[in-house]
Amino acid sequence: MTVAVTGAAGYIGSHVAHLLAETGVHVLAVDDMSSGVGSRIDAFPLVELDLARDEAPGVLRAAFAQHQVQAVVHLAARKAVGESVEQPTRYYHQNVAGLANLLTAMQSSGVDRLVFSSSAAAYGMPDVDVVDEAMACAPINPYGETKLVGEWLVRAAARATGLRAVSLRYFNVAGTGRPELADTSVANLVPILLARVAEGLPAAVFGDDYPTPDGTCVRDYVHVADLADAHVAALGYLEQDDRPYDVLNVGTGHGASVLDVVASLSRALGHPVPTVVEPRRAGDPPRLVASVERISEVLGWRAARDLDDICASVVPARA
Ligand SMILES: NC(=O)c1ccc[n+]([C@@H]2O[C@H](COP(=O)([O-])OP(=O)(O)OC[C@H]3O[C@@H](n4cnc5c(N)ncnc54)[C@H](O)[C@@H]3O)[C@@H](O)[C@H]2O)c1
Repeated sequence: MTVAVTGAAGYIGSHVAHLLAETGVHVLAVDDMSSGVGSRIDAFPLVELDLARDEAPGVLRAAFAQHQVQAVVHLAARKAVGESVEQPTRYYHQNVAGLANLLTAMQSSGVDRLVFSSSAAAYGMPDVDVVDEAMACAPINPYGETKLVGEWLVRAAARATGLRAVSLRYFNVAGTGRPELADTSVANLVPILLARVAEGLPAAVFGDDYPTPDGTCVRDYVHVADLADAHVAALGYLEQDDRPYDVLNVGTGHGASVLDVVASLSRALGHPVPTVVEPRRAGDPPRLVASVERISEVLGWRAARDLDDICASVVPARA
C-alpha cells in the first residue's frame, strides 16, 4: 500500500511518514519545503509542490498514478497563529485552497481515503473542563478558521463523493520519536522553553493569574509518537466499510499547566528551570483539554506516553 503524506518534511508529518514506513507502507512525501527539513524525508520519494498552486491537482494526479497511491494523510499547512492574523488571505489560500486542490486530485484519481490534520484551535476559547467533539466550534483566529473550514470541506466531499475521511483535532503536540525529527520551529511551549534554557534565560510564563490551580494556562500535551500512532489507527479505520466521516480529538485527556511543564522539563534536564512571569498574551484560553472518549471508542486509540515522556524525549534530542 502507498500513502501520500503531505507536509511529510514537517515535524509531525515526518513522524507519521516514518511510522507508516515501519508498518510496511510505502510513503510518497508531498511538501513544498517551505518549512520542511529535507533530511527528515531522505528515505522517501518527494513531490516538491505547493499544494495551493493552480497546477497542483495535475501534478498530484500524475504522482498518485505513478506511485499507485491509495490513501492520503494531509498535514501540509501554515500554522503560525500570529501570522494568520496578519495574513488571513494567505492562510486561507494556503490551507483551504491547498486542501481543495488535494481533494480535486484525489477524486479524479480514485484515491478515496483521507486523514486530515485539524486542530484544537477550531474550538476557540471553550469554557469547559474537557472539550468534546460535539461542542460548538468558534475559532478566534484565521488559522483556527482554516482548520474548521477544512473539516467542513472534507465532510462535504465525503458526502458528495463517498470519500472515506476522518479529521483529527490535535491538541498540543510535543516531544520527539527520534532526535533527527525533533520540532525545530520554536513555536510551541516545549521547544520555546528549551531555547530559553539553551540561551541561559529564564522560561517566560505568560500570565499567572488565570482561573487554574496554579494560575498558569493548562493544555493537553500529546506525544508526537502517540499522535503518529493515531494516524495509523485512523488509516485502519478507513478500511472498514461502515465508517461515517468523523472528527476526533487527539489528546491525553489530562491537563498540564505551564508550571507543570517547567517542572517536568527540570526533571528531564536534571536541574531547575527558572521562570519569569510576563503579561498574558491575547487569545490564550485558560484551559484546553481534550475529551478522548470518542477516539478511544472509534479507533481504539489512547495515548501511551505522558508529559515526563515528552520532556525526556526532547532533552537528549537537543544535547
Ligand atoms: N504542532 C502542533 O502542535 C499542531 C497542533 C494542531 C495541529 N497541527 C497541524 O499539524 C500539521 C503539521 O504541523 P507541524 O507542526 O508538523 O508543522 P510543520 O510546519 O513542521 O510542517 C508543515 C509542513 O507542511 C509543508 N507545507 C506547508 N504549506 C504547504 C503547502 N502549501 N504545500 C505543500 N507543503 C506545505 C511545510 O514545508 C512543512 O514541511 C499542520 O496541518 C498543523 O496545522 C499542528
